[in-house]
Amino acid sequence: MKKTIIIVIMLLTAVLCKAQISISSDDRDRAIALVKQMTLEEKCALITGQDDGFHTAAIGRLGIPSVRMADGPQGVRNKTHSTYYPCGISLAASFNREVAHGVGTGIGWDASARGVRIMLCPGVNIYRSPLCGRNFEYYGEDPYLASETALQYINGIQEQRVMATIKHFALNNQEYDRHWVASLADERTMNEIYFPAFRKAVEEGHVGAVMTSYNPVNGEHAAENSWLIGQLRQWGHKGIVMSDWVSTYTTTGALTGGLDLEMPSGFVMNYKAVRELVDNGVVSESVVDLKCIHILSAFSAYGLLDKPMKDESIPENNPASREKAYAAAIEGPVLLKNDGILPVKAARKNNIVVLGPNADCIPYGGGSGRMDPIEGTTTTLWEGISALGNKYKATLMDWKNIDEKVLAKATLVIVSVGFNHDTEKEGADRSYRLPRGQNGLIEKVASINPNVLVVANSGGEFDVKPWIDKVKGLIMAWYGGQEGGKALAAIISGEVSPSGRLPFTFWGTEDKNPASRYYHAVIPAAKEIKKNRDPYPNSEYKEGIFVGYRGVEHFGVKPMFPFGFGLSYSSFEYSGAAIEAKPGGYELSFTVKNTGKVTAAEVAQVYVACPESAVIRPARELKGYEKLCLKKGESARVTVALPATAFAHYRTDDHNWVVDPGTYNVQIGSSSADIRLEVPVTL
Ligand code: BGC
Repeated sequence: MKKTIIIVIMLLTAVLCKAQISISSDDRDRAIALVKQMTLEEKCALITGQDDGFHTAAIGRLGIPSVRMADGPQGVRNKTHSTYYPCGISLAASFNREVAHGVGTGIGWDASARGVRIMLCPGVNIYRSPLCGRNFEYYGEDPYLASETALQYINGIQEQRVMATIKHFALNNQEYDRHWVASLADERTMNEIYFPAFRKAVEEGHVGAVMTSYNPVNGEHAAENSWLIGQLRQWGHKGIVMSDWVSTYTTTGALTGGLDLEMPSGFVMNYKAVRELVDNGVVSESVVDLKCIHILSAFSAYGLLDKPMKDESIPENNPASREKAYAAAIEGPVLLKNDGILPVKAARKNNIVVLGPNADCIPYGGGSGRMDPIEGTTTTLWEGISALGNKYKATLMDWKNIDEKVLAKATLVIVSVGFNHDTEKEGADRSYRLPRGQNGLIEKVASINPNVLVVANSGGEFDVKPWIDKVKGLIMAWYGGQEGGKALAAIISGEVSPSGRLPFTFWGTEDKNPASRYYHAVIPAAKEIKKNRDPYPNSEYKEGIFVGYRGVEHFGVKPMFPFGFGLSYSSFEYSGAAIEAKPGGYELSFTVKNTGKVTAAEVAQVYVACPESAVIRPARELKGYEKLCLKKGESARVTVALPATAFAHYRTDDHNWVVDPGTYNVQIGSSSADIRLEVPVTL
């Protein structure tokens, strides 16, 4: 009863708070008036992190409170236990805007309940290589999917009067030596692949804050890169630009490059250093003023200058948040292989054995994105399976001592493997191979029992070659959060059909990925390095715009599992595509029918191809998607808006997006490699 009441209140709050917050001219005027009353010392306090490094400065005499921040992106971290949601790559794999919005909303509630008003999320750096230790936090390889997911997640958070911080701007696509590896990319590549999620967050999400990345971008560290930060302002960002933790390098660079807030404290923008530059006339005080204006305008817009930080009406351990976490966890897992072993029917003769390093723990990626869930709220994979009830016989086995007899008798052996906070994490790149001993474990189990299902936790692709032909099933389970085990059990038992789709291309071998040749940093010879790592090691983005599935046709490589792919327990038929001109673009419509035997969700994907383009372009690019849940035999008409920008490419001559006249093919498919319908359109 209590749970129901709380959920109803939460839902009402969600509906009532729906308005998008954006910074108005009144907020800016109020900020300017406050800044006029501040001393330089107070201004320097405001533009640098304070206390534990997760607070801004309070200026009591002017009524400016200290604002608390927390990571993100899988829930509210930092000195608290909180709801642990599925990770970013799982949200992207759900291809479901509602799921992303729901997780954002839940995080907004959890933050409000704890008095946190700035969330350090979402992370939207593009998946360029499986080796990046933070892919699990991000939204995959496609800029459109990442933008849509980010927009919904940000809206969800910000509708609860909590500021979101989109990060890490920009080109932070590896973790190896992240302070120094300089990302070198051309303008078109940046605009078509690496910037869109940030741009949409600014233009459509009015995101309150942007966090710069550690790395230099085309020669200049991001936090001090006036060109880079200038892009945000050109897109209309009126809020805060903050540095990543300890990623500023010089006082002049941080002051003049456009950064507003140095985190976690004033290493370079402290009062003493700033005073000296202002007194010597190197930097004008108005530069500091502008930073304070950005910070205070955002505070004003989010009501932080007027309303209490903490929302006492929301419980910290919130059943409504847990529902959001489950709704996301059920849609993320991607079934990559199923040779008839799933779903497992509820029958006592079905004897499920569960084993492996991740079978009875809550796996999570490491670093600032790690989570501390609330005690008693989590479900491991084993707990999920054993809770399926007495219609199944289920056994958890110690994977280090395998009892060959018990295995041999099982009708399904679930081997739960993958990475965790030690092997896939911030600050380091990970291996392409599964952690030590895991390939051997899978192979050994497969040699004893033919019915092996591998369930893998990871933020991206890993080497499955040693055993993929020896097992009957593979589920990419990502890091599913506190409800991940329950959701996997529902999928394995067939209560719910799997509906996640790959948000990146699963190449099958490391070297097929077009980025792999350039991904590793080119490290200058020791004798060349002067001081401050000059020259920097470089990571050249030579594959350009042909990242992931965009590189399939261009480089002539065939992946093991294509972008957008994922198996279901049902099948779908597509028909009746039609396209109609509308003001500002087109409206595409088509019918999807569930032709299988069970209720299931399909992700209908819309790609735009420009076969006659004079400019070199990818064979197809994702420009729309809809997820729809259909009962057996049911069909639905799907409508997808294609604005003119869906046909555009970035032209460097005039630094702009342009739509070339010509004939385009609008393709509708179940994955990037399974196009079912095509309609030409001449612009
Ligand atoms: C990470 C950020 C994070 C910050 C605060 C940094 O190391 O790169 O993503 O928000 O720490 O924890």
